[in-house]
Formats: sequence, C-alpha cells, structure tokens
Amino acid sequence: MKSFPPYRVQVVREIPITTRPEREQALSEAGYNMFDVPAGKVTIDLLSDSGTGAVSAAQEAAAAAGDRSYAGSDSYYRFRHAVDDLTGFPHIFPVHQGRAAERILFSAVLAPGRISLSNTHFDTTRANVELLGAEARDLPCAEAADLDSMDPFKGNIDLAKLEETLAGPEGDRVGQVLVTITNNGGGGQPVSMANLKAVRELCRRFGVPFFLDAARFAENAWLVIQREPEYAGQTPKAVAQQAFELADGCVASLKKDAISPMGAIVGVRDPELAKRCEVNLIATEGFRTYGGLGAHDLERVAQGLREVVNPDYLRSRTAEAAHLAGLVNEAGVDIVQPPGIHALYLNAGRLLQHIPPSGFPGHALACEMYLAGGIRCVELGSLYLGEFDEEHNLVSPAPFELVRLAIPRRTYTEAHLEYVADVLATIAKNPESVPQYRVVEAPPLLRHFNLKMRKA
Ligand code: F0G
Repeated sequence: MKSFPPYRVQVVREIPITTRPEREQALSEAGYNMFDVPAGKVTIDLLSDSGTGAVSAAQEAAAAAGDRSYAGSDSYYRFRHAVDDLTGFPHIFPVHQGRAAERILFSAVLAPGRISLSNTHFDTTRANVELLGAEARDLPCAEAADLDSMDPFKGNIDLAKLEETLAGPEGDRVGQVLVTITNNGGGGQPVSMANLKAVRELCRRFGVPFFLDAARFAENAWLVIQREPEYAGQTPKAVAQQAFELADGCVASLKKDAISPMGAIVGVRDPELAKRCEVNLIATEGFRTYGGLGAHDLERVAQGLREVVNPDYLRSRTAEAAHLAGLVNEAGVDIVQPPGIHALYLNAGRLLQHIPPSGFPGHALACEMYLAGGIRCVELGSLYLGEFDEEHNLVSPAPFELVRLAIPRRTYTEAHLEYVADVLATIAKNPESVPQYRVVEAPPLLRHFNLKMRKA
C-alpha cells in the first residue's frame, strides 16, 4: 500500500513564480552565491531542512498559549517533560539554535590543542571547534567513500581509526568524540546502533566523553529500524531513547527533528560539566529555563518532538525522499546511495564531467537548477571543502563534487518534487551546456556562505 502523510494542509503560503531573465538577474546580483539570493526569487527552496518545516495546528495552538514568565515558566516545564522523556539527560539547557549549543558545550570541554573526533563535523560544528583553537578531525567509515554502494550505515564512524587515535600518541589530546546522527556532512547517511555502542565502549575505555550531534535523531532511528535487523519492529521513540542512553550528552538543533522554526538543546549527564555550561548559557544565551528561546518556541519544540516520532510521519517522509531519488535516477543523475531522508546528494562530478573540480561542477549544477527552474540548493564539493590559495585558486579539491537537495518537512507535495526532477532531467539531457565558475572573493572561515563567484 502506498504510504501517505498523516496530516492535511490547513494553511498555505504562495511561492514565487519567476521568469528566466529575472532569475539570471537575481543570481548575478547575488554574486552567484545561493545564500544571497532573496527567497522571494526562489520557487522551490531545497537549501535547507532547518527551521523550514511546516508547523502543525497543535504546535501553533500550544505556541499561542505559551507562558512568558522570566523564570520557570509553564512552557519550560512542558519543554522539559518532552525533552527528558526522549533523551533522559539529567541536565538540559535550551538554546536558540544548534550552533549555540555547540559553542556552549565545546567551550566547556575543549581548549587550544585539543582534538574533536567525529564521523563528520557539520560546518558550524567544525567552526565552533576551530574557534576554540582545537582541531576538528573527521573519521568517516571506509564504506562512505563509495558513493554508489548500498551499504546501510555509511554514516558510521571508522571504529578502527577511532581506537588507533585514542590509543596512539595523540590520544591524551582528544577532548571529545562527537557522532552526528544522521551524518549530514557525509551524504545524510545513518549511523547504526552497533556503531554507537562500540563508540561508547571505546570512549569509556579511554576516558573521553562521547556526545551525539542529534539534530536528526528521529530520522536516524527510523533508518535503524529499517536497516538494522535487531531493531526491526521497535518504535522510533524507543530507538532514539536507546541512542541517547549510550551518550554522555548531546547537542541537538531542534530546527530539524523537532519541526520547530527555532531551538536547540545541550544535554549532559555530568553535573560539573553542566555547571560550566550553565554559566556560559546564562551569560550569553539566557536564563536556564528559556535559554535563547521564547515561550512559543519552547512549546513548538515540545509538541514537535511528539509529532516527529510518529511512525506514519517518518514512513511518509522517507517515501517522499525515496520517490524523489527514483525520479532523479530516472533523469539520469546519480545520487549518494542509498537515499537517506532529509536530503538527496547529487553526484554533480559524474554528471558534469566536462567541468574539472577547479570549475566547481557542484556549484555549476546548483546554479543551473536555479536558472532553469527557480530551484535553490547548495554545493557540497570543492567550493565547500576544498583548499584554496590566496588568489582563490583551488589547490586541493574535495573527494566528491556533490549538490544537496534538502527536503523541508511537511512542506512540498509530490508534484513539487516531480517538478524538481523534471528540471534536473532537462539539464541532464544536455550537461555540456552548463558553464564553469570561478571564485572572485572568499573569506577563510565559513567560506561558502560569503563567497562571490563569476561564470568562467
Ligand atoms: N549539526 C548538524 C548535523 C546540522 O545539520 C546543523 C545545521 C547544525 C548542527 C547547526 O544547527 O542550524 O540550528 O545552528 N544544519 C542546517 C543544514 C543549517 O542546512 O544542514 P543550527
């Protein structure tokens, strides 16, 4: 039986329909930087699944009734109840978004010269490690290097390398192990429970704290249920609870799997660590019972955390991504296999073989999707991960040239996704017509948000 979303549309927002000349002008005025294109010029926005999902009537009703008391508001207790129920961490701090959680936790754990090990640090996560003078080191599993393989858990951390590092001469410099579920920087692939259990054992053995970056905890749990036989038949909530149970703490942006426009948490077990986080929280985000959030956000999060673990919701969201993956493949475009849930990662390097890494095939494909169809998405390739010299020439390319199509939660219909695949199919029929790009301006940190490009 075909799965369908367990909700119906109640409030809608019009989307802009533009002409090609309008899009050419908008993209050129943005310096060919997708982050500088006004949303009012974007028809289908697949830039991010963060804070972009549709909220439910129940979330909005709860938000309207939010209690704005400065300390200990009713909204805080409802938020705490939902978060405690799921994560079990004794110390929970609300913050305004994931990167604030990273800053607060990492500044209590890391220091100059320390190392953070991860399956893959997300870009703000890496920046928050590096801003503390520490080193962010990614140890993705070997299976992740084969984009076409159907291995079910390509988000796993490489356990042999993790053990080698912890046991080796740099072992005493490792300040934390952070596993990102699902692995957004690594093709949106899930991490198995077996991998998390093994990480926990290694971290115990070497006395290093083990944290989760749990932004997409529910989607990871759903993929575990589908792909890890031991967990078949369990509920998404039960699997997520077991994942949190394994860790010493977490950072989690709630803009993804709490389906909230804003919000995040830091969760920890160690009371001493909690105290250090709390001082920083109160000084920089807000009092411990609201962090950086308003009552309405605390309420939306509390309700969203209940809705996201509904199996019918996760089933239909997964089917949506799989449907788009099928259409994209029919269009002749390869993706990182197997498809995950929050995004598809297009293999732009393979599609645009006439463009070398120095001409940024991923960026070229993203620009073409915007120009041809008003679709916004972003490159994850050499522009994002490569190394550049001072004249902005690429000196070391990324291993892959990808484009991420992020799928906002509960937002687009099948017809929208079919339109995306149609646009891609048109480009794939004549890939040689897609031009290369050059970097005009690029800052050293968080480059892809702020760069300016031109057609080569
Ligand atoms: N960790 C992961 C795995 C993320 O994907 C993100 C954000 C963050 C941390 C930071 O959270 O945005 O609330 O500050 N990812 C968004 C994305 C921006 O589009 O993938 P934030």
